[in-house]
Amino acid sequence: MKNTCNYTLFFLTDNKHKVLEVSEIAKKYNVCIEQEHASKLEIQSMDLAEIAWYAAVNHYLHYRKPVLVEDAGLFIKSLNGFPGPYSSYVFRTIGSNGILRLMEGIDDREAYFESVVVIVYEPYIIIEKGRVYGEISREPRGEKGFGFDPIFIPKGEKRTFAEMDIAEKNKYSHRAKAVSKALEKLLTLVKV
Ligand code: IMP
Repeated sequence: MKNTCNYTLFFLTDNKHKVLEVSEIAKKYNVCIEQEHASKLEIQSMDLAEIAWYAAVNHYLHYRKPVLVEDAGLFIKSLNGFPGPYSSYVFRTIGSNGILRLMEGIDDREAYFESVVVIVYEPYIIIEKGRVYGEISREPRGEKGFGFDPIFIPKGEKRTFAEMDIAEKNKYSHRAKAVSKALEKLLTLVKV
């Protein structure tokens, strides 16, 4: 069935998994998501909201199109919040197996993912956050998803994110929460 769009947002990301996850949520709000491949301004900051805000506003000022930027990180309690805002770099360098090695012998496996969504839809700038609490598994499990999905088990589940399909992951995920809140806010601000 064709999706009817009341609004279109250009999602600035190269991550096709994120596009699928966000599109699935956006469908419920009759919002269409188009992947935007342009280069993304990545400032250095400990604050995900600041990173996403600069990227979204910078992109909007160049292209004047409604833009959605999402930044996320994995925060592990026993590692004092590492890798947090450095999750992308840490994933590229040591990956999930590196995290499991750092946590060898550590019984406290508590962790959360945080997502920050920024939408620039003139004249509005919307910022929303979402978190999912859970734990780091003892070994990687599952083939689906991306990034640290194979080692993250959301609270109330036995499976990792990588063992779930998109609709199941979206019931729990940080990204689904942040995107839902941001789209609800957008729709209350901008009436059709
Ligand atoms: P990004 O900068 O928002 O792309 O996210 C930084 C890194 O965090 C990504 O490279 C992933 O390794 C990890 N990450 C963010 N969100 C998720 C997720 O939903 N599942 C698994 N890993 C994630």
